[in-house]
Amino acid sequence: MITAALPYSYAPRHFGHLAGAYLPADIYARFHRLLGDEVLFVCGTDENASSIVLEAIKQNMTPKELCDKYYPLQKEVFEKLGISFDIFSRTSKPIHYETVREFYIRLWEKGYIYPKEIKQWWCPRDRMVLPDRFVKGVCPKCGAEDQYGDVCEVCGSWYESFEILEPKCTLCGTKPEIIKKTHYFLKLSELSSKVLEYVKVKKYWRRATYNKTISWLEKEGLRDKDITRDYEWGPPAPFPGSENQVIYNWAENLLGYISATRDWAENVFGSPDAWKDYWMNNETKLYCFIGKDNLFFHTILFPALLIAHGDYILPYNVVVNEFVNLEGEKLSTSRGWVIWLHDLLNEYEPDIIRYYAAAIAPETRDTDFKWQDFAEKINGELIGTLGNFIHRVLTFIYEKMDGVVPDPGQLDENSKEMLEKCCSIVERYRDHVEACEFRDGLKEILHLAQEGNKYLNEKSPWRNLEEAPRTMYVLIQVVHALAVIMSPYLPFTSQKILEYLNIDKRVEELRWSDVEKTLLPGHRIKQPKPLFKKIDEKDILGKIKKLEEIKKSFS
Ligand code: MF3
Ligand code: ZN
Repeated sequence: MITAALPYSYAPRHFGHLAGAYLPADIYARFHRLLGDEVLFVCGTDENASSIVLEAIKQNMTPKELCDKYYPLQKEVFEKLGISFDIFSRTSKPIHYETVREFYIRLWEKGYIYPKEIKQWWCPRDRMVLPDRFVKGVCPKCGAEDQYGDVCEVCGSWYESFEILEPKCTLCGTKPEIIKKTHYFLKLSELSSKVLEYVKVKKYWRRATYNKTISWLEKEGLRDKDITRDYEWGPPAPFPGSENQVIYNWAENLLGYISATRDWAENVFGSPDAWKDYWMNNETKLYCFIGKDNLFFHTILFPALLIAHGDYILPYNVVVNEFVNLEGEKLSTSRGWVIWLHDLLNEYEPDIIRYYAAAIAPETRDTDFKWQDFAEKINGELIGTLGNFIHRVLTFIYEKMDGVVPDPGQLDENSKEMLEKCCSIVERYRDHVEACEFRDGLKEILHLAQEGNKYLNEKSPWRNLEEAPRTMYVLIQVVHALAVIMSPYLPFTSQKILEYLNIDKRVEELRWSDVEKTLLPGHRIKQPKPLFKKIDEKDILGKIKKLEEIKKSFS
């Protein structure tokens, strides 16, 4: 069971989101399908956030209209990038409301929810309660300015909105007044030790994820949190006396993974109970892929909720990535300091974008999108090494050997060595990807192409005609193995290679055992074409210039 963070429906996703959540999740899903594992990969839009209500007001639309407008755009971008979700659902669907309702009725019955009167900000001008994003001010923990009422984006702490200092109404800037409201609280304090017990044994999580989670639990413990809000958009709170309130976004969106699976079971798979095989099955391994800004919610709140409920499995791993900066500076969407996926897709093939995103995936620290580096990696590694090797092998066989896999005769030491090298690289690749070390996995793919190129140069079949059949026989096996192992990373390219190799399969049908399958002598291949188009240095200079202009306009 693989999940990727549910994107807010109103804002498009950028390159950092791809490199930090969706691509690694997709590589992992494709890799496990390749291994023959039963995989379900779910996602969908996160539509009930206060930020959506706010954005709708700004755009003079209803939240529903806003979400309906953006949902197809989000879905399309992921499809174009080859992100292989089994379902891309929405948290505005009745099935989600239903899931949330059932979930919280259970928590109420088990005594994990209680009402309490608390202070809330009230804007006298807009005449409304100001939850979460509706109020801005100074973070009570770290003093960062211009933070929203629920989470500080600078230090990551999660507080009550009335704790925020120097509050202002996000809509009109007025200083709000305090009123009292009854909200419903989740007894997180009671769940704290259980969550700690659960996390303690997760030694195989990425170190930063493990350490941050443990230190959060050990140093701060968990405070009870109010999980209801006074507005109308979102799943209604199902508690006695909670009419007119909805469930807080971070207390319902996480359940979106479950409701998306139910949506899949009912509407894609056609067996409404099939979702239980995943969420209520101890043999399921649940992997959640997210960016570091979502860490607390996935490593602490989500497990706490699932423990409180009792029927569901907990994440086996939460794969957390850091951020991708742009040309050495933090992203700022409001300033245009960002690379939007829809813009990239207008210019580059999806596998080019996927390659670079995997190559600079921020697995252990923040990384940097740099246009010059992009051009170098694509032209040098992807095209110069990988694409070139495959193209050289295929064209040689097509042009000089009548397009037929030659008979190698007896394999000699050298060729056996090359094939063994191929096997050991493939094994290392497998270990890396299995362990969610996607950058290292990609390096092994590149490494195999380098070894292939080296062998091709050493053997120079264009000169050394006698040995040419053996050389090319060995190398086409390497090309075939490459097509298999690159399929989780570069599915479109892998598909093209299968086509040139005259293998009548969709990449999705490949299985791990195919790595070892040999293309037999006599097998006919098709005319190969170059796999990629080089990136034009001039285009890159244009991009850099544009960014410099953006920078100037803000300095
Ligand atoms: N919408 C959130 C974001 O973009 C992620 C929500 S993940 C969920 O940061 F599982 F909690 F929904
Ligand atoms: Zn802060």
